Amino acid sequence: RLHATIADINFEGILANASGVHCQTKEELAELLASPYVATAVTKSSTKEVRTGNPKPSYYEFEQGSINSMGLPNNGFDYYLDYVSQDHSQKPVILSVASLSMTEGIELLKRVQDSDFQGITEFNLSCPNVVGKPQVAYDFETTHQILTEVFKFFKKPLGVKLPPYFDFAHFDQMADILNQFPLSHINSVNSIGNGLYVDVETEASVIKPKKGFGGLGGAMILPTALANVRAFRERLNPDIKIIGTGGVTSGEEVFAHILCGADLVSVGTELQRQGIGLFEKLQHELLMIMNEKGYQSIDEFKGQLKTM
Ligand code: DHB
Repeated sequence: RLHATIADINFEGILANASGVHCQTKEELAELLASPYVATAVTKSSTKEVRTGNPKPSYYEFEQGSINSMGLPNNGFDYYLDYVSQDHSQKPVILSVASLSMTEGIELLKRVQDSDFQGITEFNLSCPNVVGKPQVAYDFETTHQILTEVFKFFKKPLGVKLPPYFDFAHFDQMADILNQFPLSHINSVNSIGNGLYVDVETEASVIKPKKGFGGLGGAMILPTALANVRAFRERLNPDIKIIGTGGVTSGEEVFAHILCGADLVSVGTELQRQGIGLFEKLQHELLMIMNEKGYQSIDEFKGQLKTM
């Protein structure tokens, strides 16, 4: 009843971690995949070189969500390519690759293409936290250019991680670009970039990097995430699937993401808060909602949002 297909790869279940949470080490990835409620794990976005990330504290939680400026701490591309290339008892693993520069991104994707890995790769066009590196996917021309270069040689399943957009002109422009390529999926949304949380008592920001500016996640970004999933589902070729990410804290938000058109749903802030046990609760709550509404399968309501 809970299943999805991306690039002819079948997923049992529909829940995943959002990249960045519980996925930096092989042990964390293995723990995710060991949960019967987890359909797939997405690796921490990787760079060519190992990175320790930004100075701490680089993550802060508050009632409505979280703010982070992790700065791409990761064990390096080879580490994750090695992990995803192993057999994971039939569960697909998604390899997330960062794009700090066009040449590095292309070099890493060439190495994926030349490797034995047959799964799905996700090209992260939307990291907001590296000083001096703008989010690629807010530059439409560069996005078009980089995807043109990539698809000259990349023949395996490839999706992109997108930042949130806030204007219909941008939904239209980005969808027009994405529809020109044989993408397996989009993952929408990355954190809302460069928010600022202010602690009034201390009169200070709460994370150290970038004078407190960081990516926002959690409950407060749900409407933005749903808008992006919905807007892209209405615009993208049907064979480009959608991983809905942003604002999930219970089964209700999982249901809403699917209603807007998500095929898989991933969870960041709330997974960081509650740990892997969260997935059982989310699946249980989703199945309860479906049961009350008389739905046997997510195919019966996926993308079927009603409008007035
Ligand atoms: C980081 C944050 C992101 O939102 C992302 O897409 C990649 C990396 C980070 O700060 O580590």
